[in-house]
Amino acid sequence: MTNPSLLILPGDGIGPEVMAEVRKIIGWYGDKRGLNFDVSEGLVGGCSYDAHGTPLTDETMEKAQEVDAVLLGAVGGPKYDDLDFSVKPERGLLRLRKEMDLYANLRPAQCFDALADFSSLKKDVVAGLDIMIVRELTSGIYFGEPRGIFEEGNERVGINTQRYTESEIERVARSAFELARKRNNKVCSMEKANVMESGILWRAVVSEVHEKEYPDVELSHMYADAGAMQLCRWPKQFDVIVTDNLFGDLLSDAAAMLTGSLGMLPSASLGAPMANGRPKALYEPVHGSAPDIAGQGKANPIACILSFAMALRYSFDEGTEADRLEAAVEKVLADGVRTADLLGEEGVNPVSTSEMGDAIVAALEASL
Ligand code: IPM
Ligand code: MG
Repeated sequence: MTNPSLLILPGDGIGPEVMAEVRKIIGWYGDKRGLNFDVSEGLVGGCSYDAHGTPLTDETMEKAQEVDAVLLGAVGGPKYDDLDFSVKPERGLLRLRKEMDLYANLRPAQCFDALADFSSLKKDVVAGLDIMIVRELTSGIYFGEPRGIFEEGNERVGINTQRYTESEIERVARSAFELARKRNNKVCSMEKANVMESGILWRAVVSEVHEKEYPDVELSHMYADAGAMQLCRWPKQFDVIVTDNLFGDLLSDAAAMLTGSLGMLPSASLGAPMANGRPKALYEPVHGSAPDIAGQGKANPIACILSFAMALRYSFDEGTEADRLEAAVEKVLADGVRTADLLGEEGVNPVSTSEMGDAIVAALEASL
């Protein structure tokens, strides 16, 4: 049997540093668990622009379509702020999402016990929090046409279009209901049906899918603004939240902060099953490229490492090994190992990116 294949795209800023720690974890699974991957590496974002004049080459795009899973670090940085929109680092990431048709973006927000004090919210509001945001990722206002900046009379007008087809809503709704069945069986769908026709359709289609295929799951609806408020007020009322591309972008950042640090949160972007039964998949941390701390060994590699845990679970059917990796992260945090982002202003003795990776490998080793 051939090994499953992984394409690693470390990207920009802290991407390469955090990905180096993921490679240690991948190495450990090969050595100690007989889980070997064929790993290849490529460029995405600003580093690809520097090398090739484009944030994603056709060759890398093709490779991403062929492999069993893509792991991505982060893209972007101030160096690229003045680039033409069409070659900005973010365009590389958006092209991957769109061409791989990764319509379901899973963003778990989980509060680790050891970090409950670290949230800006009160401890009892966040302790034990475990919610999953399912963000539609390949349509909506991110991709709708018409779009652009046009002349109208004697001024310019900027246009983006929110557009959703029934089938786009149906498939992401199914992803959310399927996930809910494996969790606490609750889905809350968020849109703005009070002001947007696309929201009216969203609500209707989610309700139809629910009625026909998932009547056993508890479904509720919320306007996205009220949902944002409820996320800050009492986040533990939620299990799975399903929402569109733009609302999901905003709500997932807010949910991320509930847990204390953006440096902790992984994501999986999944598409339709490939011929081998595995879903098209890309895994990436929710945090960005953090140019202010890049290259200093300060970054927290946990979000990227937990993204690999999601790959084990969702692409490779290795749920037990994913649990092992998540438990190793929890153990290390419980032991008080902290990167700088988990210490706050007065924090002393942070560990480096690579020391955090080593500690997690040691915890994996201890789990055998
Ligand atoms: C995210 C990011 C991206 C998005 C950017 C980098 C294009 O904010 O993954 O949430 O807006 O989707
Ligand atoms: Mg975002």
